[in-house]
Amino acid sequence: MAKVKSTYICQNCAAESAKWIGKCPGCGEWNTYAEEVIQKNDGKERSWRDGQRTIMQKPININAVVSTHQERMVTYDKELNRVLGGGIVAGSLVLIGGEPGIGKSTLMLQLALAAKKKKVLYVSGEESQQQIRMRAERIGIQSENCYILAETNTQNLFINIENVKPDLLIIDSIQTLSTQRIESVAGSVSQVRECTGELMKFAKETQTPVFLIGHITKEGSIAGPKVLEHMVDTVLQFEGDRHLSYRILRTIKNRFGSTSELGIYEMQGTGLRQVSNPSEILISQKADDLTGIAIGATIEGNRPLLIEIQSLVSPAAYGTPQRSTTGFDAKRLNMLLAVLEKRGGLRFGAQDVFINVAGGIRIDEPALDLAVCASLVSAYHDISIPEKVAFAGEVGLGGEIRAVNRIDSRIAEAEKLGFEEIYISKFSRKGLDLSGKSIKVQAFTKLKDVFSALMGELG
Ligand code: TYD
Ligand code: MG
Repeated sequence: MAKVKSTYICQNCAAESAKWIGKCPGCGEWNTYAEEVIQKNDGKERSWRDGQRTIMQKPININAVVSTHQERMVTYDKELNRVLGGGIVAGSLVLIGGEPGIGKSTLMLQLALAAKKKKVLYVSGEESQQQIRMRAERIGIQSENCYILAETNTQNLFINIENVKPDLLIIDSIQTLSTQRIESVAGSVSQVRECTGELMKFAKETQTPVFLIGHITKEGSIAGPKVLEHMVDTVLQFEGDRHLSYRILRTIKNRFGSTSELGIYEMQGTGLRQVSNPSEILISQKADDLTGIAIGATIEGNRPLLIEIQSLVSPAAYGTPQRSTTGFDAKRLNMLLAVLEKRGGLRFGAQDVFINVAGGIRIDEPALDLAVCASLVSAYHDISIPEKVAFAGEVGLGGEIRAVNRIDSRIAEAEKLGFEEIYISKFSRKGLDLSGKSIKVQAFTKLKDVFSALMGELG
């Protein structure tokens, strides 16, 4: 007699347990175990030999494997092409995660509509066909080859896929799908895993690329187990502040390209616009003599970016001074403040300090240290930094300025945007070819010297 086997699975890390437990021994989270029916067992004990007659593949020498060139579908969306490593690879499974309302559905629908020559099937378990049509009208791209399906059952989905034969499949979202093969509810760990498995088989067998939209949990990871991230070829994260219009598409995992790529979009009334020159938007138009503002030359992926660091230093109104950061690592700020106190003699002890990276983006690159320090010093002394000056350098605990990688691209980007001076580490300066550059490169070994140069210049 067929027996239904159920088990308890941690909804956070997919650890299994035969009975319910409060705290997961795998990830240490509380109350994450839920009962799930995992398979209909026929009651027989299985050994690894059971399936052996069905094995079709035989091992072959690696040199005998014929390598095929990765075929890529280059889309209209240059930012997406970039984060995918140069276009959509045939048969690849791409997971795109992000908070609700960030624009995942918009991004995918836009891709579906703009790929005019390719037949695209957009499957939504979240919105009706009418709602998607309305969104498409808002985006305003006409396409004859975009098919919409509101479906949540994978068996029905595959029947539709056989009829439509799409060149590209988009699933919005993986958490709404469910397969009849297992009995747990849609969105549970085992359903998500099973449906992803079925879609993966479909992608690999037919060489059709598949995009999966994934929800994000409160903690910011893609809902469903980590195994989901292991199964897919590429994981992209769509992020940004809901209240600001900039959106960043980041590669977290990519079997077909680099993981440090970044795409930037702006959410407009008519969908997402690709931002091809991000530095321009990230540097706000500021009034001439505003203090506490410094421009840092950073690198995200392969792309140099100039971003504005703003800081505010003001006497603490209450006992404990506040330290607050937006878009920058708070621990790093504390370290830089300590270095400035110890090595520069600045007294931040009784001051509230706020740091903000303009444009609502988040950057974790040590090369921004120098810009952050400059902005703090500027705010502290209430003296503004000249407008056309940029910074690129890591600050060490001794108050020394350390070299950063790819300094030449940073300098080139600053020059391109009309900066007249850039402050870097002396160690970066070595072997740097500055012939033909109009930008003045100032190289220092100590933080102190930077500020005497800068403040001297300020008078
Ligand atoms: P959506 O793609 O539905 O987000 P997700 O699928 O990640 O939950 O985008 C939702 C937001 O985007 C919504 O608040 C409205 C806004 N939006 C625009 O500002 N302009 C547009 O053209 C579209 C389609 C949406
Ligand atoms: Mg959506």
